[in-house]
Amino acid sequence: MKRMLLLLAFIAPVVVNAEPASQIAWTPEVLNRVKNGDINKGKELADSCKSCHGDKGQGMKEETRDDETLPAIPALAGQLGTYTYKQLRDYSNGSRSHDQMTGIAKGLSEQDAADLAVWFSSLAPPENKSGSQNLARAEKMVEQGDGKRILPPCFVCHGGKGQGEKQDIPALAGQQADYFARALLDYKNGRRHNDIYSRMRLIAQQLSDEEIKELAQYYQQLK
Ligand code: HEC
Ligand code: HEC
Repeated sequence: MKRMLLLLAFIAPVVVNAEPASQIAWTPEVLNRVKNGDINKGKELADSCKSCHGDKGQGMKEETRDDETLPAIPALAGQLGTYTYKQLRDYSNGSRSHDQMTGIAKGLSEQDAADLAVWFSSLAPPENKSGSQNLARAEKMVEQGDGKRILPPCFVCHGGKGQGEKQDIPALAGQQADYFARALLDYKNGRRHNDIYSRMRLIAQQLSDEEIKELAQYYQQLK
């Protein structure tokens, strides 16, 4: 029964949710808008993103200072244009929400979002930081999944090198581990719910917090 449900969730829209996970539909019009985004315009617009996402779009580790905790900020460099576009539109129309990004995305037109998406996808992916943790368990999850929990291997969607896959499956290689872990926890507890067909929520719900941390380290180091 469970296997059946999970299968259905992967192949058919989840009808129990009255609200769609995202307003984005990959029509030829939308795909063309992203494909033909103006890279120079995107570069200009991206000046206002640098203070948080870094001057090369590399993101930022979570930092704790005496007076405040600065949140982890995702790398955008080298990300699939269609994924970045979808996330900006999702923030703008309320499918995904965040104190800062919602306001920022509401200030961008569909064309701005396409221009920015093309610019960030043209940048070199973030540099991979290595650590010393044993990540054998994460590697197994990525390559084989877990049949007992009906968890598909991550690579079937995110690619063998964590490079992502059209249209909306993000590249993960080199992503900031702190951000990555928080994204999975947000899917797990339902705070983030803009994944079409609940693809990531169903997976994250079955991962332990410890596994999530290890997967985040694994992908941050993946070359
Ligand atoms: C005040 C800091 C700040 C600024 C400025 C900012 N961002 Fe963000 N951005 C964030 C944070 C924090 C997140 C993670 C939010 C979350 O968890 O949903 C984020 C997330 C994103 C995401 C989702 C990435 C992913 O992997 O899902 C995109 C796309 C994005 N920002 C694009 C932009 C663009 C384009 C600009 C400039 C027009 C910009 N941001 C400016 C802080 C900022
Ligand atoms: C069935 C396909 C599929 C599988 C399998 C899958 N993912 Fe995903 N993943 C997606 C999609 C689609 C999204 C983007 C959803 C959205 O629009 O928010 C995503 C998003 C993510 C994100 C958020 C990235 C960001 O920048 O915010 C992380 C982290 C992630 N996946 C990790 C994993 C891990 C780890 C595994 C294996 C345990 C995995 N995924 C397996 C399809 C998949």
